[in-house]
Amino acid sequence: MSDEMSDGMSNEKSDERIRIFDTTLRDGEQSPGCSMNLNEKVTLGKQLEKLGVDIIEAGFPIASEGDFGAVQAVARELREPIVCGLARTGSADIERAAQALEEAKKPRIHTFIATSDIHLEHKLRMSRERVLEEVDRAVRQARGYVDDVEFSAEDATRSDRDYLVDVFGIALEAGATTLNVPDTVGYTTPQEYAELIAYLKERVPGSDGAVFSVHCHNDLGLAVANSLAAIAAGARQVECTVNGIGERAGNTSMEELVMAMKTRRDVFAGIDTGIATNEIYPSSRLLSAITGVMVQPNKAIVGDNAFAHEAGIHQDGVLKAPITYEILTPASIGKASNELVLGKHSGRHAFRERLLELGFELEVEEFERAFQRFKDLADAKKTIFNEDIEAIVADMVESAEDRFSLGELSITCGTFGKPSATVEIVVDGEARKTTALGVGPVDAIFKGISELTETKSHLEKYQVHAVTSGLDALGEVSVTVSEEGRRVIGRGAHEDVLVASGKAYVHALNKLEWHKRRREVEAPKGI
Ligand code: KIV
Ligand code: ZN
Repeated sequence: MSDEMSDGMSNEKSDERIRIFDTTLRDGEQSPGCSMNLNEKVTLGKQLEKLGVDIIEAGFPIASEGDFGAVQAVARELREPIVCGLARTGSADIERAAQALEEAKKPRIHTFIATSDIHLEHKLRMSRERVLEEVDRAVRQARGYVDDVEFSAEDATRSDRDYLVDVFGIALEAGATTLNVPDTVGYTTPQEYAELIAYLKERVPGSDGAVFSVHCHNDLGLAVANSLAAIAAGARQVECTVNGIGERAGNTSMEELVMAMKTRRDVFAGIDTGIATNEIYPSSRLLSAITGVMVQPNKAIVGDNAFAHEAGIHQDGVLKAPITYEILTPASIGKASNELVLGKHSGRHAFRERLLELGFELEVEEFERAFQRFKDLADAKKTIFNEDIEAIVADMVESAEDRFSLGELSITCGTFGKPSATVEIVVDGEARKTTALGVGPVDAIFKGISELTETKSHLEKYQVHAVTSGLDALGEVSVTVSEEGRRVIGRGAHEDVLVASGKAYVHALNKLEWHKRRREVEAPKGI
């Protein structure tokens, strides 16, 4: 093993350090509407690197060409975190994961198989003995490719404890370095989970040499509580996602877990993560921008209302002494205060500084585009808030793989005559134009776009909200569009809400196109 490798090896970190294993790009991506294309995964991966996560699970290479390419690209681009690819125990899965990780500086193969009798009987149709053989073979095969191998016992919390001891013992002997105990269906409770971790740590032969990891789903709203309880019982890796996105009710929310540990240092006595907490808010916003999935306003830590004191008695207290009602500050998660930041006379330097403060580091060409958008907005709108700048940047996350882009748009509407929209769409580099009529202006725009893109998709939801207060606020539109059972969310922001609507629709159609191009093979169920 090289020095670089051993540096990155999770089990060589101090026992007081909790490794943050981020699975936003894999389990997170499995939540409805949260799928990401290759560029989006790389963009988010770079932000996760800034955030300081220890391990990034970039995807499931055998699941599709798209997943393979994304894992490969993330592995190539990121040098700091360990980059991990998921694999079932089948030999083809592991080989594919190893291929995707070839260029990674710190590669990890994460292999898993279900261990509960429920899954063995109804899903795998395998005996317990057969599963033990699979574990042994898969971990050995993975170790043939990389030094860092994680093994997960899917549905561990509904598995027989003593059988789990055998399973993990075999995984460890075969060379696994991290043993993950997933609460796949979000079924366990904090006390029960802590007891399970303690039981396994005590009984699995050689467990001192492994890092115990936890992976919780939020079906009963207990994912963060369960993960924290497991840490208290000795788990030293937590698998989580930004904004808590993930299969069904989601995974452990990274920001909630990290801030709970930071805020209650007294309870977690010296145990900490390596997360740069001032990158939490930018990461949350970037994910929302990429997926179009906004966080609920009352979401802990990153929700819009997380720091809003509404009751007079609270406001009075906070003004007198913040400690009365404030246990953490917006600044600690990198959320800048909502003050007037820039105006139409601000130059490139001030704009770049503000972007950096908000956590955005843009390439030259991206910066120029963002600056131009900022100038246009500053011409149209007197006061520019941080939220406006975040929306501008979020709006620019577009991909080189996009088939469509919105060109010119002109709308006629009002009480006289039928609303109409003249729309220009660039399709595969070729500009097309049409004029369409609609029940309202948005309907007319969407009809025009549908005609030019020849989409067969169906619009399910249209939502609009103002990014800041005031009549000149930037409008942010999100649309949910579906086709052949695939549902995606597109978003767009603009000072003109009709333009934002067009952008959001085109964004969604590009996502659908990307899915069509992605040659999917049957992905395993139940993860
Ligand atoms: O929920 C689960 O069990 C998983 C495994 C693949 C770790 O996502
Ligand atoms: Zn999961």
